[in-house]
Amino acid sequence: MTLKRIIPLALAASVFITAEAKENPLIRISTDGTEMIMTVADNGNLVHNYYGKKFKNALPYQTKKYREQPDNGAGFAPQAFPAYGGYVTISPALKLVHSDGSHTTHLKYVSHSVTQLQDDVTRTEITLNDPLYDVDLTLTFDAYGKENVITQSATLTNKEEGRLTVENLASTYLPLHADSYYLTHFHGVWATEMQLVEEQLQPGIKSVESKRGVQATQTANPAFLLSLNGPAREDHGDVYGGALAWSGNYKLTFEQDECGRMNVVGGINDFASTYYLDNGQSLTTPDMVWTFSDKGRGQVSRNLHDWIRNHSLAHPDMERPVVLNSWEGAYMNFDEKTITDMIDDAAKIGVEMFVLDDGWFGNGEYARNTDHAGLGDWQVNTEKLPRGIDYLAKHAVKNGLKFGIWIEPEMVNPKSRLAEAHPEWIVKSGDRDRLQIRQQWILDLTNPEVQDFIVKTFDDVLALSSDISYIKWDANRFVTDFGSEHLPSDRQSHFWIDYTKGLYSVYDRIRESHPDVMIQLCSSGGARLDMGALKYHDEFWTSDNTNSLDRIRIQNSTNLFYPAMATASHVSTSPNHQTGMMAPLKYRFDVAMSGRLGLELQPKHLNEKEWEFAKNAIANYKKIRPIVQFGDLYRLKNPEDGSGWASHQYVSKDGKQSVFFAYSMKYHGRTTFFQTRLKGLDPDKQYRITEINKAGWPSFYGDGQVFPGDYLMNEGISLNGGNNFDSTVLHIEEI
Ligand code: DGJ
Repeated sequence: MTLKRIIPLALAASVFITAEAKENPLIRISTDGTEMIMTVADNGNLVHNYYGKKFKNALPYQTKKYREQPDNGAGFAPQAFPAYGGYVTISPALKLVHSDGSHTTHLKYVSHSVTQLQDDVTRTEITLNDPLYDVDLTLTFDAYGKENVITQSATLTNKEEGRLTVENLASTYLPLHADSYYLTHFHGVWATEMQLVEEQLQPGIKSVESKRGVQATQTANPAFLLSLNGPAREDHGDVYGGALAWSGNYKLTFEQDECGRMNVVGGINDFASTYYLDNGQSLTTPDMVWTFSDKGRGQVSRNLHDWIRNHSLAHPDMERPVVLNSWEGAYMNFDEKTITDMIDDAAKIGVEMFVLDDGWFGNGEYARNTDHAGLGDWQVNTEKLPRGIDYLAKHAVKNGLKFGIWIEPEMVNPKSRLAEAHPEWIVKSGDRDRLQIRQQWILDLTNPEVQDFIVKTFDDVLALSSDISYIKWDANRFVTDFGSEHLPSDRQSHFWIDYTKGLYSVYDRIRESHPDVMIQLCSSGGARLDMGALKYHDEFWTSDNTNSLDRIRIQNSTNLFYPAMATASHVSTSPNHQTGMMAPLKYRFDVAMSGRLGLELQPKHLNEKEWEFAKNAIANYKKIRPIVQFGDLYRLKNPEDGSGWASHQYVSKDGKQSVFFAYSMKYHGRTTFFQTRLKGLDPDKQYRITEINKAGWPSFYGDGQVFPGDYLMNEGISLNGGNNFDSTVLHIEEI
């Protein structure tokens, strides 16, 4: 593809251009339906004028009166990237200490350029500079036309003679003005990730952040919705979706200032992360991924799903296989026969990929029989698996399955040969004793030797068998008492940024040499779920909580941003190992089939009836899989609204097929019933509806019948049932 450099004003060629406009560039970062607008004020400031629905004509911004609006009352419109200095008193996007000790920075517009990266992707780069101190800041915006996504990052270059101290460099700043602002964000803990909160923001600062490093998303995710003038609705209203593509400490601040304006700043957390740049050195931030819809959060989700599938996920066109993961079925208590039996059963029931989880490595006193030993010693445990991994992988392939294996390469048990051989590779704060979590420590990824070791671990594990086609990459603790023996004492605060950059460099190298292998992103479940890591992976382990009732809410929140095809969702045993809750097998399947279906149990524990149900459900999943994995998600009933119902639909891109899921989350009483309107169908077409995964009575009165799309989308459908754990899956096909 040839890169085209074009003069930005040429983009608006059909628009009448005034003399004033020629001197005052209008920077219009546009997708098919949205745009950001920036202009240059007379004082040289780059002004952020607008982000929202696309205008037919943005000409008013080229006259001074509009250009320097909205004003903050003091004569200054919001800068596109507020640096601390001058009149900036909000939480800044940039805070520097210059080599002479000055704490202030004034950024002025220098130039900008527009480049066509792909047919539908346009890059706008805007360079700013402080006329007094020689620092350059380049803002990079990539606009993805049909997905209506704009990513933003910043690169700071020190051209001063001396050392520049970067106290904070964000990825993005967005000013908005509305009557009220509602933030949807997420909190959680192990096995309870992505708990949704929506709150009206008040004057002051709300921040969502992580200081945990490796498991940065366990307690809060760097993805959010910001709805204007009311809580986010599914199909109406102005909603912004934002997600930071960074797997380290992050901070999102929402500051409602004295003008009523909402100032959003997002990026790497500045906590203990002061970064020093010598002359000529640069620092680039991760991308902030933005989208906007004036038609509610449903469209925000669909935009982000499309963007991830088109631009930020490995193997986006490949149907994800049905997986049996050995963890909850065998934990670390297995031998060769346990595994070959599981593979045999998996093959009979219709599973397509077997994944051998934790417990296959370490030998002698460091055998991985519990989580107390073995991490770091990535050699096959010869006692458990005398014929090695290749024997198991070949057994899987012989039975028509693919084979995958678990690793946790960033970690080390104190009880391991690796910890004895390389204590200097382990994260450590000076002379302080290292704290353990799950009996393990973290390798120091700021160190290139450690990066090489992890790349080699990955290569060596794959070399155990040419039939390994899937890796589950886990990371089971967060950072405490950070510090590095590799970094100089005056650069310890580089740890947080350099760790994540080190991880990305490892991912880059692995993806370069193993482009075909499927990789699952896992960190005690969803403790590292962000768009920065996801782009190297095929899918993520959503949560160690496999309890269907909890999964409805966890998956609903997760799928606000991240697509179903990447959402590993496994049927486990009842009572559930994490929560003790009992649920019917149908309910467990109906929930898991709404993502990337898998099993997380010992198949031989299924009785005959359950076995038949499971086999049939897996066959059903294969029929609806393209709709779930590649279709558009429409949410119908919100599991967070207290009604005790959850329901959603996927619709194929051509609109001809849909699959509908409904779950009762409590007892509803005898007289109430579930009714909802369907979405995304063609009102002029006829659709046959077939209930799948039936267990006993059909729950849909029209099973097997044909309905007009118009009827389904206006009158809707009702279902029998309203007991705890009632659920329905309908396959809807245009005839
Ligand atoms: C945490 C993961 O989330 C689980 O699925 C499992 O792989 C264990 N680690 C193994 O230690």
